Amino acid sequence: RLSRVKGLPTAASPSFYINPCCSNPCQNRGICMTTGFDHYECDCTQTGYHGEHCTTPEFFTWLRAMLKPAPATVYYLLTHFKAVWDVINNTPFLRNTIMRFILMSRSNLIESPPTYNSRYGYKSWEAYSNLSYYTRALPPVERSCPTPMGVKGKKELPESKLVVEKVLLRRKFIPSPQGTNIMFAFFAQHFSHQYLRTENDKGPAFTKAFGHGVDLNHIYGENLDRQLKLRLFKDGKLKFQMIDGEMYPPTVKETQAEMIYPPHVPEHLKFSVGQEVFGLVPGLMMYATLWLREHNRVCDILKGEHPEWDDEQLFQTARLILTGNSYNCSWLAHNYSMEFCCC
Ligand SMILES: *[C@@H]1O[C@H](CO)[C@@H](O)[C@H](O)[C@H]1NC(C)=O
Repeated sequence: RLSRVKGLPTAASPSFYINPCCSNPCQNRGICMTTGFDHYECDCTQTGYHGEHCTTPEFFTWLRAMLKPAPATVYYLLTHFKAVWDVINNTPFLRNTIMRFILMSRSNLIESPPTYNSRYGYKSWEAYSNLSYYTRALPPVERSCPTPMGVKGKKELPESKLVVEKVLLRRKFIPSPQGTNIMFAFFAQHFSHQYLRTENDKGPAFTKAFGHGVDLNHIYGENLDRQLKLRLFKDGKLKFQMIDGEMYPPTVKETQAEMIYPPHVPEHLKFSVGQEVFGLVPGLMMYATLWLREHNRVCDILKGEHPEWDDEQLFQTARLILTGNSYNCSWLAHNYSMEFCCC
């Protein structure tokens, strides 16, 4: 393993060793590989570039770069010309073809199978197959590097509060062309909590959402035990309670499916849903309530069409329907905030 080895002189540095890949010399996602203590090579395989540092484009890479519209142009096209999108949206053939193209081109940006994780800065079977770690698309900066950014910048990362203020703090309100709002942000947060499930007992590098997929475990519970606690066992439905004529999740007391709530929340207000952290944020509980209502609504429709089905088949089929719905809406909503999609 490469690391800073104190007291082990090398030709490159008399006192300690610095991994030559710390300067991120390889461009265009080329992979830096050390060859001995003070040399490296860039592996440009499949990057579309070649040369010592993967900087010379191959012909088709060059052509694609020439023809490809800038992200701002794509965004403008996707968020204006409502009349054109209305036509596309109302023509199933066009809509399906264009949606498929957009989805595929976006998902092709993500490497599959996943490559790195927080433990391994190089490709390995372990990084690919051990799903207890979050995967990552880019290699981490080696721990042995002189600074957190490799070889440049300060030796310590700034306070996260400062970074948030510098990078994220809004100085001027710029409305979204679609008029999306806080509901949209909560939709994304609610959705992503099914695969971003940090296993805090082990540490921030670990996830307990094995599979990293859209399985709606945030609605149905992360395992069978929790799912069974949340189910009504009648007509495929999830447990619920009626308050002022409206459907809400059942209480923790009723389901015994534990939740995380801020201190001092009274028992009768502790609602119980698939994801235990949804007790912490009202916007997430709001979406959990909507999905609960949707599940039970779909069950009613299914039972009307299939009076012969038992509770299990109604539940399982409703789950599949909700999974499909959620998957379609979320990918498009996440990536494009396009209103002309299925949402
Ligand atoms: C994955 O890695 C973690 C941490 O090294 C380890 O505790 C766990 O057993 C590994 N899981 C598998 C399935 O190998």
